[in-house]
Amino acid sequence: MSRRLLILGLESSCDETAAAVVDAGARVRSNVIASQDDLHAEFGGVVPEIASRAHVERLTPVVRRALVDAGVVLTDLDAIAVGHRPGLIGSLLVGVAAAKALAWSLDIPLLGVDHVHAHLYAGALDRVDPPAFPALGLVVSGGHTAIYRLDSWLVITRLGSTLDDAVGEAYDKAAAILGLPYPGGPRLDTLAQGGDDRAHDFPVSRLGPDSLDFSYSGIKTALLYAVRGTPVRTAGATRFPRDHTHLTDHDKADLAASFQRAAIDAIFLKLRRALERTEDCRSLLVGGGVSANSRLRRELPALAEAYGLDLRLPALRHCMDNAAMIAGLAHHRLDAGAVDDLSLQAMPTTAR
Ligand code: KG4
Ligand code: ZN
Repeated sequence: MSRRLLILGLESSCDETAAAVVDAGARVRSNVIASQDDLHAEFGGVVPEIASRAHVERLTPVVRRALVDAGVVLTDLDAIAVGHRPGLIGSLLVGVAAAKALAWSLDIPLLGVDHVHAHLYAGALDRVDPPAFPALGLVVSGGHTAIYRLDSWLVITRLGSTLDDAVGEAYDKAAAILGLPYPGGPRLDTLAQGGDDRAHDFPVSRLGPDSLDFSYSGIKTALLYAVRGTPVRTAGATRFPRDHTHLTDHDKADLAASFQRAAIDAIFLKLRRALERTEDCRSLLVGGGVSANSRLRRELPALAEAYGLDLRLPALRHCMDNAAMIAGLAHHRLDAGAVDDLSLQAMPTTAR
């Protein structure tokens, strides 16, 4: 991985417009992210139409900035990579169309990358030593919660995933129940750090004894009832007796801390199960927005040590959606000759 090979990555799967230049699959020369949080905040979630229009407006200036920051011009690039799945279809289409236009006009390879797989690559950025395979992978984000086995950067098998909400989505909904503004995940994490995590006993979803799947709908409902009380049905309508405005700051911090304990414990339960089953794993690759979570980051090193794994936890700037992870993973696709052509499609679902 020492030879210079510059890949421009594009990311537009949800509400971040991002472009990055990565050299040789590891050295991040630039990493530009234009967040749309401000556009979606008043709706309490991402509005797909607004997101795709904002990508159209922002992508060209974001690409320009990524080139300037990297100190390169378009003709220096060796390939163009794009996150082409999964995500909001209208949003993905913007990145895919731009990537095709760039690759075609520069006459360089086009590489489509699975966004969820790319999250697993985030911990390999800005490192000279690649992780050893086989590896166990954990993606915890706003749209995905899944465990993988990786035999290489290109051979990735999903072992389990969420049956309902993703963990980040549960964080955002829990934060809304506690009256925190969108996007609430990081705010709930901060609030939790001042609370008693044993104040409430929220359910940790286990599912079947062998399951590596996740479920976050139960804990969200448990929090809802703890905050608003048991709903009463009067005149055909269901009403809660109270809401978050009745809580003290102290109550909110305890609820947040207890939610965080259950949400993160569920991840560790499944990671341990997976590790008991895949004894040959040598590394643990973690990625996605929730890998910025303070409790997860604090507890992962001990788990990795107990199982003799090389832990690859991304730098905070690489946890959220970004294009450096797309360009980084694309390097290995290019190396393997897994190049796409102009028939590359934007797809709403992830690779299995
Ligand atoms: O990876 P990402 O940027 O987007 C997706 O691919 O989904 O993840 C965003 C998610 C949001 O749900 C956000 O609330 C959550 O990651 N998140 C956190 C934290 N930071 C971001 N959740 C819990 N604790 C955090 N510190
Ligand atoms: Zn993501």
